[in-house]
Amino acid sequence: MSQELIEHAGAMVAHPKGILAADESSPTLTKRFVAHGLESTDSTRRDWRETLFSSPGLGEYVSGVILYDETFNQTTTSGLSFPNFLVQHGMLPGIKVDTGAKPLAGSDGELVTEGLDNLGPRLVDYYTRGARFAKWRAVLQIDQAKPSAICIQANAHALARYAKLCQESGIVPIVEPEILMEGDHDLATTRRVAGTVLAAVFDQLRSFEVLLPGMVLKPSMITPGTTGPTATAREIGEVSVECYRDVVPASVAGIALLSGGQSDDMATANLAAMNEIEALPWPITFSFGRALQDTPMKVWASSGRDRQRTQASLMDRVTATASVLRPRHLVNV
Ligand code: 13P
Repeated sequence: MSQELIEHAGAMVAHPKGILAADESSPTLTKRFVAHGLESTDSTRRDWRETLFSSPGLGEYVSGVILYDETFNQTTTSGLSFPNFLVQHGMLPGIKVDTGAKPLAGSDGELVTEGLDNLGPRLVDYYTRGARFAKWRAVLQIDQAKPSAICIQANAHALARYAKLCQESGIVPIVEPEILMEGDHDLATTRRVAGTVLAAVFDQLRSFEVLLPGMVLKPSMITPGTTGPTATAREIGEVSVECYRDVVPASVAGIALLSGGQSDDMATANLAAMNEIEALPWPITFSFGRALQDTPMKVWASSGRDRQRTQASLMDRVTATASVLRPRHLVNV
């Protein structure tokens, strides 16, 4: 079991590949569709995802795709389940298993991610049907009094329980503590908060004896708040890597960053800056949602859902992003 986890986690972050996060819940995807004047039905969502996943050559740069339960249960036009379709195209199927961020009792409007009820049997079922990795996203906000200690602890604890359950089912956990970018805070504040949050997450992961080479960390990039003072990609890259080095053990299989609502160019520039830093203890790659999908979705909407043009747009984003990754032999030097 451990060997399989380590192999799959390694494959997820193997150069020159990253992960495509296509696990927006149906309500979230509906919002994105509506913003582009697209109708959202189970059939149009299926068509959108099949268009993306069948892009020729995607598997050369994408190791795995995170699916939402609806897509996991759907079939392609050729009648294959989406997990089987991904495997046939050289990509690992992943599944979002949390049930969303809900109000945290005792906090001032903070959130805790739920989904632990019945998670063990759900993971066994997903594994049987092809899932080889999973994702759980915790959400933390920054302001004068946030994130609170209880919010950090509650989310770290849930992430660790989820990660251990995944590994017991042969599934690689993506551990995703996302610190939202909203706010007027500066880069140093995000750095401090991220250090505290990640340290709490790794404390809990260690308590639950999660196998670190059999997991992937998916943090947010360390950026200033959206209305705070600006920072260059180089500053963001250096501060992010410095923070991860402080708290992320070298034995973690890899770091796959989320894009968090940054423009696609900015997310790629920040990822490039991190990859330019020498002697990284782990591969640093992408697990982007919006930074890979926003532009193709515009093309899909404006072209009357033209498959080829949409796929060309996705491949532009994917190749531009993968091209900034540092070759494996330069990692760990
Ligand atoms: P973004 O890259 O759009 O932040 O999405 C990644 C993701 O998986 C969010 O949970």
